[in-house]
Amino acid sequence: MQTVTTLPHLRQAVDELRARDSKRDTLALVPTMGALHEGHLTLVREAARLADHVAVSIFVNPRQFGPNEDLDAYPRQLAEDSAKLKAEGVALLWAPGPEAMYPQGYATNISVSGVSDGLCGADRPGHFDGVATVVCKLFNQVRPDVALFGEKDWQQLAVIRRMARDLDLTQPHVDAIHGVPIVRDPDGLAMSSRNAYLSPEQRAAAATLPRAMDEAIARIRDGQEAAPTLAMLEDELLGAGFSSVDYAELRDADSIALLDGDNGNARLFVAARIGGTRLIDNKAV
Ligand code: PAJ
Repeated sequence: MQTVTTLPHLRQAVDELRARDSKRDTLALVPTMGALHEGHLTLVREAARLADHVAVSIFVNPRQFGPNEDLDAYPRQLAEDSAKLKAEGVALLWAPGPEAMYPQGYATNISVSGVSDGLCGADRPGHFDGVATVVCKLFNQVRPDVALFGEKDWQQLAVIRRMARDLDLTQPHVDAIHGVPIVRDPDGLAMSSRNAYLSPEQRAAAATLPRAMDEAIARIRDGQEAAPTLAMLEDELLGAGFSSVDYAELRDADSIALLDGDNGNARLFVAARIGGTRLIDNKAV
């Protein structure tokens, strides 16, 4: 595995990879912020199935963190991450520093409206601008044929697809942006780099989130009204030790428009805090 930290080296490495064997030259990109777990590695394995070579980026993107968020505390463990990627057969690790991504004078922002408006977009102003901007840059830097994102961040995937469609991106084309189902711990909690912030007690309580979501979905499928069911879900989370619930909403899976009941394409989205840690999850209704 080759690790590169500057744009000229990246360009060279990508050109070499593509020239090495002209019959096997498709490239997949898995963008990450590092602190890699089985969720990320599942994306990497799926990438290897879809393309000849896999590139992974690790960049803790300051533009997607709000002023009071965990940019400084976000786990950084490049040596460990690099060993994991090497073991998966990854060809290229793109690990730029902030100055390589946003050099002096950097002034451009990509803002996707509509799908970015509710849920995490409402709670974290500017977050999805930061995501869209860095992902567009990563696409232009690596120029992959395919890119993979987790359904854990369902709204993020919707934002990236919207951007790729609206900006007529070709590397990757919107149809080559793949979503990968959420990878969960055995108790159902979605894997996340932020789970490392949880104390053992908080980690045990966190498993209430997917369980309570399953219960709410069963009630809604049973024909019970959404609003009281979601209120019960919030109460259950607060009772289990969550400190607050940012949102618990039914939305259309594609447009992310708010729904007041199941329209046949509904998804349940929840963000809740346990201590200082914000956890998100989503499931099909
Ligand atoms: P990060 O949180 O590191 O996640 C990188 C990718 O892994 C994302 O596509 C995310 O959805 C996916 N992922 C994380 N946990 C997962 C899980 N339990 N199951 C399935 N997929 C999972 O998301 C980001 O980084 C950043 O916003 C990024 C897209 C890299 C832009 O900075």
